[in-house]
Amino acid sequence: MVDECMKNRITITIDPRVDTITMPENVRIGLMLREQRKKCSLQGCNEEFFGFAFGQSPFPIPEPISDALIANATQGHYVDAAGIPEVREAISGFYRRHFGIEADSDRVIVGNGSKELMFLIFSMVSGSVILPSPSWIGYAPQLRFLGKPYHLLPTRPDNGYKIDPPDLENLLETIVDGQHILLLNNPNNPTGALYDHDELKEISAVCRRRGCLVLADEIYALATYEIENFVSMGVVYPEGTFVTGGLSKDRSSAGYRFGTCILPSSCSEKMYSDFGKLAATLYTNITTPIQYAAVTAYSPNPAIERYMEMTRDIHRMVGEYFAEAFSQIPGITTTRPQGAFYFLMDMNELKPALRNKGIQTANDLQHALLSHPYHVATVSGDAIMMPQDNFSSRIAFVDYDGARALDLYQRSKPKTQEECSQFVRDAAPRMVNGVEMIRRFVEELDG
Ligand SMILES: Cc1ncc(COP(=O)(O)O)c(C=O)c1O
Repeated sequence: MVDECMKNRITITIDPRVDTITMPENVRIGLMLREQRKKCSLQGCNEEFFGFAFGQSPFPIPEPISDALIANATQGHYVDAAGIPEVREAISGFYRRHFGIEADSDRVIVGNGSKELMFLIFSMVSGSVILPSPSWIGYAPQLRFLGKPYHLLPTRPDNGYKIDPPDLENLLETIVDGQHILLLNNPNNPTGALYDHDELKEISAVCRRRGCLVLADEIYALATYEIENFVSMGVVYPEGTFVTGGLSKDRSSAGYRFGTCILPSSCSEKMYSDFGKLAATLYTNITTPIQYAAVTAYSPNPAIERYMEMTRDIHRMVGEYFAEAFSQIPGITTTRPQGAFYFLMDMNELKPALRNKGIQTANDLQHALLSHPYHVATVSGDAIMMPQDNFSSRIAFVDYDGARALDLYQRSKPKTQEECSQFVRDAAPRMVNGVEMIRRFVEELDG
């Protein structure tokens, strides 16, 4: 029988485009972690690991959303590729209420997470992409796979790694390959930076002058700590901006894979129908019951509003606590997050000591931090499009029991600085221990 199977084997050739991408960083880190755990357990070590790598909301899904999903489990029919009218209407209202974006439902499309919508935009819109460095890990692999040209736009620590309009203008002046799309992620993963209205206006002025489109990835908009400070690029530059978002972060429903895109106001009917055509060709429609659940998620609902208020306050306390705690370690500086659940940890001051230990690249640093006895998982600067010899890492601060944290918060909302710090120590004890492990790593560099 086996011989018969072997005789019938054929060689399956993989399309070379697949080799342009590596395993997504989150999967790669998961594999590295598993390997390190195995190594440790063979040596009889079963000590804690510290997860600063994964960027998933720790909180439970708001009940009205999961209840709506259960109630709509029998919606088993095919629907419109751009999304059911009810959900597009609800999203249009949501964006008007929260961000002041005036976009009728015929400018709204939904997808399997915002990641898929970005893939559609990159596939649909011709020209090259301007990718700031650092950037979220997810953009470049899609561009490589699609064979879409991109140009890195370096940013600087002294202005919080934000896009500098004159730098953008200079880059746009030098590239001559037609239309461009700027990726603007606000609030930012990996730095936690928030762009204010003036900064967005200056960027949009450059884009208008140069005819550059913007893909505004605003998936963390409602996780802006001082929510009144969030401004959408969809308001500042409506004619040229694709705004993407979804349920994954502020409503903790990443596995629902529900993303949204508000198309630019200058989007033609042809472009809208082309989006539908592409979506229908690729996946027909996104899961119908999830779309019905999303109607609840985007409709006015005091319980969901309250949930988002509380969870962003918890993200604020945790972010402020850990950015400060990391910065207290000699040789480490960090960005100070104003939204989302990340900051950038900069160890470049320790370069000579790291090199003495044979750590030459950002990836070496990632491995060293994960190795025994430190067990600290981070995302390497390389994965977020920084140069290999830059010893920066992305730190995510969501490794705690979100349900418990929410419960603690509801029982007694911390008010003073000291109460906030105590709250974080109670809610996120493993991450507190993780900081001490990084301190030990730094101290032992000199040993
Ligand atoms: C900056 C950024 N954009 C987009 C995404 C993808 O979100 P979604 O779950 O909507 O595909 C993530 C997820 O980590 C992200 O951090």
